[in-house]
Amino acid sequence: MANTEAIAVQRVPALTPEVQAQLQQLVVHSHWNQLPADWAQFFQLGTVHAVRDAGCAITASGAVLPMGAPTAPGPPVSWISMILVSPAQRGCGLGRAVFASCLAQVLADHRVPMLDATPQGEALYAKFGFEPQWRFTRWRRARQEAVTGGALPMANGVDHLLRLDAQALGFERAALLRGLAAREGAMCLRLGDATALLRPGRTATQIGPMHAHDEADGAALLDAIAAARPEALVIDVPQGRPRMEARLQAAGFTPERPFARMVRHAGHALAPAHTAIVQAVAGPEYA
Ligand SMILES: CC(C)(COP(=O)(O)OP(=O)(O)OC[C@H]1O[C@@H](n2cnc3c(N)ncnc32)[C@H](O)[C@@H]1OP(=O)(O)O)[C@@H](O)C(=O)NCCC(=O)NCCS
Repeated sequence: MANTEAIAVQRVPALTPEVQAQLQQLVVHSHWNQLPADWAQFFQLGTVHAVRDAGCAITASGAVLPMGAPTAPGPPVSWISMILVSPAQRGCGLGRAVFASCLAQVLADHRVPMLDATPQGEALYAKFGFEPQWRFTRWRRARQEAVTGGALPMANGVDHLLRLDAQALGFERAALLRGLAAREGAMCLRLGDATALLRPGRTATQIGPMHAHDEADGAALLDAIAAARPEALVIDVPQGRPRMEARLQAAGFTPERPFARMVRHAGHALAPAHTAIVQAVAGPEYA
């Protein structure tokens, strides 16, 4: 085990243009999908932790995002994400140190830490007592030459999305979802009971969260999106959803990587989640 106590982790006080460029470089080096707007959201609603090198450049990052009120009595949740280490610095304890700093903040705030882990991250978080609850897969479709679909079914506001989202997760996150929906190029869609957000990303437009009580409704909304949008698309779909998987494959999506949704309970009973409603998560960085 690396001696992480010698590694200084700081809370980054403000998103200056220089900080934003350095953080975004970590995203690019890991081939992730976030935009500078995502860092702005983390600074606005949460806290960003970082390790700097001798020249003061950021070489590791982590973010803590407090989620809103639980839907039933129980402790509130904070999401930990954006654990990124510059490729040249990996294996030296930076990931462990920046993650430990994020976790310490969540525990000091008397919140339950949750996260979505890549296979690389899962190995690290398991060492801190995190356990997988369920798994999802990122699916990607490349840019299409032509589209066959018509206009997308726009939702009348985000209220239906916020309602299903809180039922699905067991806590609300209205500020976050309103922020995502208000971004340039983002939109909220609704087809019957199914509802989804679409937002631009660095490498592809992200579809999610997508919620519906019935998987078939989610699959129909996915079809409409895939037929109407020519650009590259990504969507993070819970595993074990045969209808969604069949429609994803028919629409030209292929599986890219698995993620594990993890929690460190430490004996706390969380408000109940209804994961069957989740047809796609908002993205591993946001739950
Ligand atoms: C995952 C990541 C953050 C780890 O950062 P790092 O600085 O290389 O990790 P550390 O050197 O602090 O190692 C932390 C621990 O995890 C273990 N670990 C790290 N990567 C591992 C891997 N791929 N498989 C198994 N164990 C691994 C190390 O052995 C170490 O254990 P120890 O402290 O008990 O010896 C880094 O590889 C990274 O940025 N990956 C790309 C982005 C990513 O996947 N982030 C995680 C998002 S959930």
